[in-house]
Amino acid sequence: MRIPQEKFDEIAQANDIVDVIASYTQVKKRGKSFLALCPFHPDKNPSLNISQQKQVYHCFSCGASGNVFTFIQEYEKIPFMEAAEKLAMRAGIELNLRKSAPDTSNEISRLFEINKATARFYYNNLMNLSGYEKDFVWDYIKTRDLKIDTLKKFGIGYALKEWDSLLSYFSDEKTFSLDDVEKSGLILKSDKKANYYDRFRGRLIFPIFSENDKVVGFGARKLYEDDPGGKYINSPETRIYSKSRILYGLNFSKEYIRSSDFVILVEGYLDVMTLVQAGINNVVASSGTALTTEQVQLISRYTKNVVVIYDADLAGIKAAKRSIELILEAGLDLKVVTLPEGEDPDSIVRTKGKAEFEKHLNTRKSFIEFLYTFYETEKNINTVEDKTEFVEEIMDYISKMTNKIMISFYIKDISKRFNIYESILIDYLKKARSKYIKEKYPKSSVVLPVRKSEEKKALSEKPSSLELELLEVFIHGDGAALDFLSENIDVRFIKNKAVLDTVQIFLEEYHTEGKIVAYKAIDKSEDINVQALIAELSIPKHEISKSSKLDKNSILVKAEKRSTNYLRIANDIINKFQVNLLEEDVRKLIAEGKDLNKILELRREIDKIKRSNGR
Ligand code: CTP
Ligand code: MN
Repeated sequence: MRIPQEKFDEIAQANDIVDVIASYTQVKKRGKSFLALCPFHPDKNPSLNISQQKQVYHCFSCGASGNVFTFIQEYEKIPFMEAAEKLAMRAGIELNLRKSAPDTSNEISRLFEINKATARFYYNNLMNLSGYEKDFVWDYIKTRDLKIDTLKKFGIGYALKEWDSLLSYFSDEKTFSLDDVEKSGLILKSDKKANYYDRFRGRLIFPIFSENDKVVGFGARKLYEDDPGGKYINSPETRIYSKSRILYGLNFSKEYIRSSDFVILVEGYLDVMTLVQAGINNVVASSGTALTTEQVQLISRYTKNVVVIYDADLAGIKAAKRSIELILEAGLDLKVVTLPEGEDPDSIVRTKGKAEFEKHLNTRKSFIEFLYTFYETEKNINTVEDKTEFVEEIMDYISKMTNKIMISFYIKDISKRFNIYESILIDYLKKARSKYIKEKYPKSSVVLPVRKSEEKKALSEKPSSLELELLEVFIHGDGAALDFLSENIDVRFIKNKAVLDTVQIFLEEYHTEGKIVAYKAIDKSEDINVQALIAELSIPKHEISKSSKLDKNSILVKAEKRSTNYLRIANDIINKFQVNLLEEDVRKLIAEGKDLNKILELRREIDKIKRSNGR
């Protein structure tokens, strides 16, 4: 089928290049243009330049360039038509490529299609209800104050109060085998008889979307008194739905999160819907469970600022503890809002209005202040013992943070509040940090394994540039990068003796002190090669400090330092080391002239790592 050029123009017009690129990588505005970390090569400083006016991008570093179509093609590694289709879908434009016949070619695509069809089915059910069920369900929707536009936007549906309504739909429809439908978790097999039945019956249905708008599962809210099930029943984990990797509402809110540069983290599906309905769009829900690392990572792609809204009771705080730790570990800034007892964002907006909710939002406190008021009201922190316990607990939280600037602000704050010398707090922090690192990496050995003596001969004379980069990250990197390195470094990566010794010293420093202070590390070695290496690398080499002669303590230099994504660099470095090692193995195998299969396998491995790089 031929598609007229106008259609492509329409698609391009509906997909602003800045928005599109921003949904893949962080974009910052610089004057008239926009800058982003280039996803097509390992990029340390943003070098992808985007012109909104011309709707093109160009990377100064690797030369990648093009328009919104080529970006998607290159990034997703898909042909032009698929990229056009993706962009059309993103903008809600009908392309009618293949009469939208469902893709049943593999199990994953069938799962997506089954979820999509089911979402439509439930939505149509809701819209075409009749009789008693219609009155009952729509009365409920009225009490929740959900408007028709909201129902449409979130694809809200209704599962009839029957055992087999979805089952009959799929049986009649015949596109998918019931076996596949069962894999989606939407129908179940009863134990005794081999009969299928619907998982959701007599419930309001909330489709759960992936970050890119695909239905991956459902949440189903109880409506009827005589329903013996819990308040919510959710889709089980499937090959396309993993609860720990989904943030409910992210597909709707991601652009808003980026532009407001903060995210409101709530607990429930309905909190998200009500807030969005009220025009507060930068919101996602963890869906009632503690946050996971994956969810925090998802958030951090859009913003570094998280506002958590939790119940103010003890259970709420206990539940929030793990989430708080994860957020801090990821180097995000955390603010907390506590709502009056028994309220959640949905109830506040519904009964008291948007303005009242925003008032609450504006009372957000740093999490330490939040703990402080909490302990003040719940417990009495008057005795020395109580105060000690409290300060130690706060310090334990701080020991999980990676942003050194933030840490030093908090230490100053606590020092003032409790009248404790900063140096004492810092001492405590060091110990807490090293304890935390040890707990986090119980199995990783502090010191790299000793090389066998015959391998020593193979050590190279000059450090490679990759080895030098590695050391730089050790010296200048943040906690996240150092954690990553200490977990992933392998003794076989390093060919230079001085570098190897230096890495040993750094790892030991990091595991005992929780940080690496270059001038102290110098003292730990007698070897002048090692000393020279550390000294040389300790001098900051940032762009700004290179071009102008700014003091290394200048805010500009610090700011630039802070915006460098060391974790990403660390990741790239480790990948390169792995590739080098594998290539070395390949060379050896080729020299030995055997094991062709093994060689091919290694090459595939190498390609895989290379492809994952820069993503
Ligand atoms: N949840 C769940 N299963 C349950 C209870 C809760 O999966 N049995 C998840 C749902 O994602 C729910 C969230 O936890 O949205 C928060 O729970 P809760 O605050 O009890 O529900 P609300 O979303 O506030 O729903 P409602 O306002 O209707 O009570
Ligand atoms: Mn609620």
